[in-house]
Amino acid sequence: MSSPGRFAGRLAVVVGGASGIGAAAARELVRGGAQVVVADLDATRAASLAQELAGGTPGAAHAVAVDVRERGSVEALFCGLPRPADIVVTSAGGASRSAAFDTDEATFAAALQLNAGGFWRCAQVAARAAVAAARPLAIVHVASSLHRGPAPGLAHFAAAKAASVTLVRCLAQEWAAHAIRVNAVVPGPVETPMTTPVWDAAPGLRAAIRASLPLGRIGEPADVARAIAWLASDEAAWITGTLLPVDGGLEVAR
Ligand SMILES: NC(=O)c1ccc[n+]([C@@H]2O[C@H](COP(=O)([O-])OP(=O)(O)OC[C@H]3O[C@@H](n4cnc5c(N)ncnc54)[C@H](O)[C@@H]3O)[C@@H](O)[C@H]2O)c1
Repeated sequence: MSSPGRFAGRLAVVVGGASGIGAAAARELVRGGAQVVVADLDATRAASLAQELAGGTPGAAHAVAVDVRERGSVEALFCGLPRPADIVVTSAGGASRSAAFDTDEATFAAALQLNAGGFWRCAQVAARAAVAAARPLAIVHVASSLHRGPAPGLAHFAAAKAASVTLVRCLAQEWAAHAIRVNAVVPGPVETPMTTPVWDAAPGLRAAIRASLPLGRIGEPADVARAIAWLASDEAAWITGTLLPVDGGLEVAR
């Protein structure tokens, strides 16, 4: 559980915040007292979550439509804020499945554009605003344990996530002098609207995944959200460039 008030007075933008891990992060940040912008391609879902979150605490959340694949859209999001963000969480991501033999140029480029480019674009635009206003900023990216591979049917996605974790380390080093911290959580398998239909369609897959995890259960969005909130908080004030596995022990099982 977050300490109440640890994000009081902070403005947080959760990109990809309408669903799954991003939505759980938005909840956790509101619980800690942040004012949260739920930014997502799915404007309807973002608006409904923001309304729910603001219902508990008036003014705590609002929604903005964004497509992280488009620079203009990302600039409109961050330029439209009342002031530069204190916290940015980048959770927008995903890819269609395609065996490596069959993956075409468009599928490969799309995976990079969303999963690596989306993170880079949001981080850069938010960082420029923070530097211009001489304010600190905490960026937390949602990567994936698949970035190390193997990832059958998802090599293009794994490669894009690998690019994103390298960016986390590079940006952390370049921007530390501006009091901008850049970290990532590296989730293992988490039950979300992205994974539920895939796992439902493959009998036995959930049990196999569970068996591969030393802690014996599939993750919940809140498991990852608590780690995101901690990295965004002042408790992690001396941490930058870190990739934090949140994976039920998957990393040490390999
Ligand atoms: N669920 C898992 O097992 C798992 C594991 C490791 C990493 N991840 C990563 O976590 C992140 C969140 O995944 P999730 O499982 O919560 O999925 P999700 O589908 O529940 O949430 C993803 C959100 O991103 C939004 N989004 C997609 N494209 C976008 C775009 N172009 N611009 C803005 N928003 C966009 C979607 O509308 C959705 O609300 C992803 O980056 C995913 O790769 C998930």
